[in-house]
Amino acid sequence: MPIPGRLVSLGLEHIDALEAFLSEFDTNPTELQGYFCHRDASIEEAVALLDAWSAGERLEDTWVRGEPLGQDWVQNSTWFWEFDEQLQGVINLRHRLTPALKQEGGHIGYSVAQPFRRQGVASAMLNEVLGLCRELEIPRTLLTCRSDNLASIRTIEKNGGVLNREGWSKPSGQTLRWYWVSLSDT
Ligand SMILES: CC(C)(COP(=O)(O)OP(=O)(O)OC[C@H]1O[C@@H](n2cnc3c(N)ncnc32)[C@H](O)[C@@H]1OP(=O)(O)O)[C@@H](O)C(=O)NCCC(=O)NCCS
Repeated sequence: MPIPGRLVSLGLEHIDALEAFLSEFDTNPTELQGYFCHRDASIEEAVALLDAWSAGERLEDTWVRGEPLGQDWVQNSTWFWEFDEQLQGVINLRHRLTPALKQEGGHIGYSVAQPFRRQGVASAMLNEVLGLCRELEIPRTLLTCRSDNLASIRTIEKNGGVLNREGWSKPSGQTLRWYWVSLSDT
C-alpha cells in the first residue's frame, strides 16, 4: 500500500517546511543524514547548492556543514519526501563511490523527521531513489548502516538489500553493515 506523498527537489517554496524539518534534528543533529547544507543556510543558498551538486558542479569555494569540500567529493542529488506541505524525510544519492564512500556512507543516506517515523517514509524514499538509480545507470547500489540501527537495516532489507559483510569500521569506530542492492533484483 503506497504511503501518501512524493519525492521532490528542494524549492524556494519550501522555506517554512525546511525550517520545520531541520528543527526536528536540532536536539540530535547526528541523526540528520543525507542533508549537507549548513544548518543556517538560507533557502536560496540551500536550493542553489543542492541544484549545483546534483548537476555535478563542485563549487570550489563551498563548504559542507562548516567543512570545505574534500578532494573526493562526488556528484550527489538530494530529495525530500513531501506530503501536505510538510517535508518529512530527506534522501541523498551519491552518483559514484570513492574508497571513503565504499567504507562508510555508500551511495545513499537518508533521515526521517521524528514525527513521521514508522509510517513507511524511509522505505518509500529508498524505493523511489533505487528506481532513479536505474535511470542514472547505477547498476548496483551500496548502503551502509550501523549494526544497531534496526530501523535502517529493515528499510534496506525491505528494499532488496543483500548483506555483504558486517564488521568494525575504523573511520567512525563503529560496527557497520554493508548492503548491496542490485537493480535487477528490485
Ligand atoms: C532509519 C530511519 C530513516 C527509518 O525511517 P522510517 O520512516 O521510520 O522507516 P519506515 O517507516 O520506512 O520503516 C522501515 C522498517 O523499519 C522498521 N522500523 C522503523 N523504526 C524502527 C525501530 N525504531 N526499531 C525497529 N524497527 C523499526 C519498520 O517497522 C519497518 O519495517 P516493517 O515494514 O517490516 O514494519 C529513521 O529512523 C531515521 O531517520 N533515523 C535517524 C537517521 C538514520 O539512522 N538514517 C539511516 C542511516 S544508515
